[in-house]
Amino acid sequence: MDKFDTARLHDIILDTINLKMVKSKEFIIAANWKMNKNLKEVILFIEELKKLQYSRKNKLILFPPFPYVILLRELLRGTEISYGFQNIHWEASGAFTGEVSPVMAADLNCEFVIIGHSERRSIFSETEDMVKKKICSAFDHNITPILCVGENSEERRENRFKDEIRQQLYSALGDIDFKRIRKLMIAYEPVWAIGTGLNASPGQIKEIHAYIKSILSGLFGEETAKDIPVLYGGSVNTKNVKDIAAVENVSGFLVGGASLQFEQFSQIIKSLG
Ligand code: PGA
Repeated sequence: MDKFDTARLHDIILDTINLKMVKSKEFIIAANWKMNKNLKEVILFIEELKKLQYSRKNKLILFPPFPYVILLRELLRGTEISYGFQNIHWEASGAFTGEVSPVMAADLNCEFVIIGHSERRSIFSETEDMVKKKICSAFDHNITPILCVGENSEERRENRFKDEIRQQLYSALGDIDFKRIRKLMIAYEPVWAIGTGLNASPGQIKEIHAYIKSILSGLFGEETAKDIPVLYGGSVNTKNVKDIAAVENVSGFLVGGASLQFEQFSQIIKSLG
């Protein structure tokens, strides 16, 4: 066998092992639509999604812009597809023009909320203190927070990425009673990978997901940490999703750009089982 054949054979074996592993894992596939889509596009997307055959071992969660949440509640009634808010304020109500509250999310049967997304942190100056208050508020209202953490390109370049992630996790979860943590998810989203087409490599993801698990173990004990899903987000697409899915400790995906077109999103769903 020449060198080329050996390399190809190695790839084929690896693909087969990955495929088997991916097929046996349960994934959370979350679509973060950010500030995109109009009414007609939302309705068409949901109509298509409801027709899609996919493995029910996987969990789908959609995060539409706020005005469409109530519509999703109606359109997704009777399906296993969940939806949530992209953000909440920490207070239940009050004079906070332009904000939405956890009570409103609960009112609309939202089970999930994204908290601490890097766009909230960088564009809207969301501080670690605010992130923590939002996490606590989500728990208070029985909504599962998806806490986003991740380093920027400078922190990655200067090898400070683990310090940054540790800091973000400690400040958001530091003194939270571990009994409340049963309803928590983490999304590792390197800022340099979001919307850039540059995903973190499986090796980088493996390292950080293991690191996140070790921090969660330190905070809440190994048993609890084991059950906290850690998703990956940052330029996930139809080409890279399978390789990332095979990485240890990857429990799912937070997909931005590739969740906007039904074709791409459905391919991602299909490739996960
Ligand atoms: P992206 O966004 O998939 O477009 O990189 C991910 C996110 O921001 O959650």
